[in-house]
Amino acid sequence: MKTLHDTWQQVNLRFEALLKELYLDHGEPQALLFEAMNYSLLAGGKRLRPFLTYSFCQAVGADAARADSAALAIEMIHTYSLIHDDLPCMDNDDYRRGKLTNHKVYGEGIAALAGDGLLTDAFRVLTSGSLDAAKACACVRVLSQNAGPWGMVGGQVLDILSESRTCTRQEVLDVQSRKTGGLIRAACQMGVICAGGSDEMLRAAGTYADHLGLAFQIRDDILDQTGDAALLGKAVGVDEGKNTFVRLYGLEACEAMVLEQTELAINALAAFRTQEVLTELARNMAVRNH
Ligand code: IPE
Ligand code: IPE
Ligand code: MG
Ligand code: MG
Ligand code: MG
Repeated sequence: MKTLHDTWQQVNLRFEALLKELYLDHGEPQALLFEAMNYSLLAGGKRLRPFLTYSFCQAVGADAARADSAALAIEMIHTYSLIHDDLPCMDNDDYRRGKLTNHKVYGEGIAALAGDGLLTDAFRVLTSGSLDAAKACACVRVLSQNAGPWGMVGGQVLDILSESRTCTRQEVLDVQSRKTGGLIRAACQMGVICAGGSDEMLRAAGTYADHLGLAFQIRDDILDQTGDAALLGKAVGVDEGKNTFVRLYGLEACEAMVLEQTELAINALAAFRTQEVLTELARNMAVRNH
């Protein structure tokens, strides 16, 4: 049986090549914009969301390549969200993916536009691949629903609005389920859609994503306190004073919550033909150090 490590390596190799090809031939007058888009897109990162898209496509029983355009689109939107999240008007961070943040290199105007470019072009990419019209349309709906004002963007707004006060546990959960959970949910569900999975599988992918997303953000909050900036590729301690899970529950309880949510995610996989990769992935993410 292939291990998660081998599968991830193999899928990533292809995916990185596809990403590199996206903006190879760009000319003036907006060459600087494409350079800035590529700067963040090709800076590495775990590629968790595209891997989820590919893995759910395979868990339904289809060839991973069917999910190429959805995998590219979700990583483009995720990367745009990071560029904007790091801007001085938001989290004001200097490092991301082990490099200077986009605005530190290109300035705030170009960084904002590089994010806009990735967001908009994600939908061209999603609808220009080999997906038939019905599947492409279903993916557009799931992606925009979870990335936009009802999803990630909405969560980022709640995050900003709640900075000056102490939130309830329910409010922190609500912020998380949108700001981080949204894109993870879209990644998982688009994989099912690309493979032509059933409604039951779509719901199960949503349940897996909700628990994995929660575990993922709690782990992100833990690493902000205990992690190594060099390994993480971003500064630590920056969320001090924010409404994080660690502030609400403390480190020990958070570690337990990550494990609990991970098992709940895994329980949702019964609807799929193969479960090994997604099971190991969830367990791996629970103990990640970057
Ligand atoms: C960072 O996401 C933002 C959060 C939602 C916590 P990742 O930890 O997946 O970032 P990359 O893609 O690996 O850089
Ligand atoms: C951001 O959450 C989630 C996004 C939608 C980008 P954080 O602000 O905690 O992410 P990091 O810690 O900067 O990666
Ligand atoms: Mg933030
Ligand atoms: Mg941030
Ligand atoms: Mg964080």
